[in-house]
Amino acid sequence: MSRLIILSNRVSLPQSQKCVAGGLAVAMQDALSQVGGVWVGWNGEQVKQEADQHFDILYKSKITYMTCSLTEKQYQDYYCGFANNTLWPAMHDRVDLVEYDADEYTTYQQVNRLFAQKICEFAQPDDLIWVQDYHFLSVARYCREMGMQNKIGFFLHIPFASLELWQKMPSGKSLIHDLCQYDLLGLQTTQDQKTCLQVCSKLLKAQKIQRDLLSLNQKVVAIRHYPIGIDVTGIQQSLADLNHQDVSPDVGAQARMKTIIGVDRIDYSKGLFERFNALADFLEKNPEVHEQVQHVQIASPSRLDVATYQRLFERFKFKMDLINHEFQRNEWSPIVCNYDSKPHLELMKFYRQADICWISSLKDGMNLVAKEYVAAQDAENPGVLILSKFAGAAEQLTDALVVDPTDRIAMIKALKQALNMPLAERKYRYQQMMKQLQAYDINDWRDHFLTDLACTQYVHRFECENTKSAVSFYPSHAFQHIHMQLENRL
Ligand code: F6P
Repeated sequence: MSRLIILSNRVSLPQSQKCVAGGLAVAMQDALSQVGGVWVGWNGEQVKQEADQHFDILYKSKITYMTCSLTEKQYQDYYCGFANNTLWPAMHDRVDLVEYDADEYTTYQQVNRLFAQKICEFAQPDDLIWVQDYHFLSVARYCREMGMQNKIGFFLHIPFASLELWQKMPSGKSLIHDLCQYDLLGLQTTQDQKTCLQVCSKLLKAQKIQRDLLSLNQKVVAIRHYPIGIDVTGIQQSLADLNHQDVSPDVGAQARMKTIIGVDRIDYSKGLFERFNALADFLEKNPEVHEQVQHVQIASPSRLDVATYQRLFERFKFKMDLINHEFQRNEWSPIVCNYDSKPHLELMKFYRQADICWISSLKDGMNLVAKEYVAAQDAENPGVLILSKFAGAAEQLTDALVVDPTDRIAMIKALKQALNMPLAERKYRYQQMMKQLQAYDINDWRDHFLTDLACTQYVHRFECENTKSAVSFYPSHAFQHIHMQLENRL
């Protein structure tokens, strides 16, 4: 029976505190919990040397977890180095922060090879392999070198860098070549899809055989966009199960205080200073709102072994203290910050209680906070979403207050509008956004990608000659829904 095998750097291990689950890990958990499968990745730990490195296997609720530690060198060079000091800033238009080190690149390749080797060891010929994110651009190349013929898909959760950047980056061309060893490349937005198609065709001189299909040395790669969704029903259900008091705004001493929530990893791509500056200007020009509004920032310090992030964290705390020091009075501080990582349900309660959610990313693959905030609202009294036009979510959530976070005047205007928005307008915008979220949730995202991956398997292997035999070639019980979708489609 064929299985789904997912590879991602972070794995949300059951009951583990060690590996912090980010947006991707939560999405993968949701995506796998229905269909089951194997989840391969890093267990969040470090060991001294390769000899101490081994894969642990754990089975829980339809998912087999297959994780291993990284050596200290791999953690430094692959994770802190090439992934987060080269690729991450490159993909987020921060050329000024891109650092390149050939040794780190070598280790990145070595780690990609390590995980490819593990997958090759246990994958059956009809298993579907789905690799996630910028940590693993080269995995398919190693799988191919090891003789693997399975269809392998790749999904990039973050934006795709421009042609200019790939041209400038040493090893840029080689990485794009590796990327084209996948059968299907999934991007978050139409813009990212366009950029990826352009980069692959120009850099490798690949031939465009259809709108979203490239051919390179007899190998065909499909490049499409699949905006990642959330578990809308799950969020609504878990909030409905809670006691009414747990999710209603606190009606105590701060009865009229409006809350503006921000939930971000402390990352330079999140536009945290743009937001704080806009808030400070707003408070300065509108003293009547003092003690009436509060910005609740849930901030997870992130990647603190990377110097850029250490500096950013210090600047973040300094900026917040400055603003609080300038405006605080009586018991009120304009910004309260919480650094603890919250269980998912806790976070949903925070969303439900907040009047406004303010997302100010300067560049963001999707931003699932935007989607989760909307899904967690009370339909009878929903809050307002202020959403950066540079977040992938802005392609779907057009009924948010969409702003340019670098335009301080526009940010302040949006904040005022959000604070004063009448109930009828809040409800209308909420309903429109919910329609979008329900029309394409996390299950649709997974099914759409995997159906396409299975389809490319058919299209490329059987050359569209015998539809029925192609479909029955893929006999998974776990993927019966995909099987049916394939039959409908072909
Ligand atoms: O968006 C990319 C991503 O991998 C997300 O999954 C997650 O929110 C974040 O980055 C986690 O970063 P890290 O694994 O470096 O802590």
